[in-house]
Amino acid sequence: LPGEVGGPEDAVAETSAVYDLIAEDYETRTRQTSPEYALFREQFIVALPRGGTVLDVGCGPGRDAGFFRKAGLLCFGLDLSEAMLRLACRSTSVVRGDLRALPVRSNCLDGIWSGASLLHVPREQVRATLDGWHGALSPGGVAGLSTSVGHDEGWELVPAREDHRINEPSVRRWFVHHDPDDLCSLVQSAGFDVVSAATRVSHRTWVQVLARKCPPRQ
Ligand SMILES: C[S@@+](CC[C@H](N)C(=O)[O-])C[C@H]1O[C@@H](n2cnc3c(N)ncnc32)[C@H](O)[C@@H]1O
Repeated sequence: LPGEVGGPEDAVAETSAVYDLIAEDYETRTRQTSPEYALFREQFIVALPRGGTVLDVGCGPGRDAGFFRKAGLLCFGLDLSEAMLRLACRSTSVVRGDLRALPVRSNCLDGIWSGASLLHVPREQVRATLDGWHGALSPGGVAGLSTSVGHDEGWELVPAREDHRINEPSVRRWFVHHDPDDLCSLVQSAGFDVVSAATRVSHRTWVQVLARKCPPRQ
C-alpha cells in the first residue's frame, strides 16, 4: 500500500497538504507550458462543443482552467488543496473536491481535463476514478489527460527551493506513473474510445490521452 503508515488515503492527504505548502512556488514554476502541451490543450478545445462545460480536475493554480475560460468554455476548477484553489479562483470558478469522487451529477459535463493530476491517484483507485469521470461526462463527452510515464509508484521529494520549509525531507508527494499502453487499455475498459495518445518529454516523460465517452450501446 502507498505510504508506510495508513495506505492510499494517507498518501493522497499528505500529497494534497504538500500542495498547500508549495502552491505559489508551483505556480511560478509551471506558468509556461511546452508547445506540445499547448497543442494538446487546443486539441481538447476543438473536440468540445462551443461553450461546453468543462471540469479541470486537480486544477492547481488554474493555468489551464483560465485558458479554457478565455477560449469560451464554461470551465470550473476542482482541487483538494485550498492554497491552490485560492490561486485558481483568480481566473475561474472553483470548488474544493476530490477528483476520485466528482461532486457532479451523471452525464452533465462536456469535458474533463486532468493536467498532471491522475499521477497522484493510487494505482488501485485509477480504474474507479476513470469510471467516475465516465459517469460525469455526457455521451460523446471528452476527457483530456496528461500524466507521467513509468511503471512504479512512490514518494518523491519536492525539489529544493529557496523557501527553507520545502527543503525538508518530509516534504514529499506520492506519484503513480503509467505505461502508455496499459493506461489506454484502462481508459478503454472504462468506456472511452481513445482518440489519440502521444508522449512528450520534459523533466519527465508524459503521456497525453484524448478520449471520448462511447455512445450507449443499442
Ligand atoms: C501536479 S499538480 C497539477 C496542477 C495543474 N493541473 C497543472 O497542470 O499545473 C496536481 C494537482 O492535483 C491536485 N490533487 C491531487 N490529488 C487530488 C485529488 N484526489 N482530488 C483533487 N485534486 C487533487 C493537487 O492538489 C494539485 O493541485
